[in-house]
Amino acid sequence: MVGTRALAEAERDPSSRSAISPKNSPLLCTAKTISFPSSNFLVIAKKMGIEEEDLFIIEIGALLHDVGKIGVPDAILHKPGPLVVEEYQQIQEHPQKGKKILNNITYLAQAIPCVLHHHERFDGKGYPEKISGTDIPLPGRIISVADAFDAMTSDRPYRIRMSIEQAIGELNKNSGKQFDPKVVDAFVKIWKSGDLLQLMTSKEG
Ligand SMILES: [Fe+2]
Repeated sequence: MVGTRALAEAERDPSSRSAISPKNSPLLCTAKTISFPSSNFLVIAKKMGIEEEDLFIIEIGALLHDVGKIGVPDAILHKPGPLVVEEYQQIQEHPQKGKKILNNITYLAQAIPCVLHHHERFDGKGYPEKISGTDIPLPGRIISVADAFDAMTSDRPYRIRMSIEQAIGELNKNSGKQFDPKVVDAFVKIWKSGDLLQLMTSKEG
């Protein structure tokens, strides 16, 4: 497994890809059927003080952040075992593929930072542009945390889900390396307040 566990879990998450199909349109309606951490993402965004008027476009970005996985073969996304280098490289192309898709849709262009930068790392070791710290647009830093948490706490064909406590532990362990410490702090505060548990319970119900 390449990179940290949290990063690898998020980028191989096949749930988004399997629900997106060229047969499904329009794009936004499709996105709303997908299991995405958009609720988690919005809660963090609000906690970090993002203005109300910016939340809608950020929500769209959260819904569409993995849309580029349309261009990654199912055999790779659903592969139960480790990926070879070439397969991993194909997965890493999905942010740029997503950007190309949104570039063609004028009213979604504002969501491109979410799509292009959700696999950047705070320490600059992510992709595709290897930017670091606050050079990474805030929506990208937020979705990185929400996406990793969602992947770690969901069952996959190759493993069972982590407990919430274990997932929070992974976020803390990677704070300042993979993740923006301020975003992790906001997320942990939401967890401690009980709001996150309430959100997850309502999602399962
Ligand atoms: Fe992704």
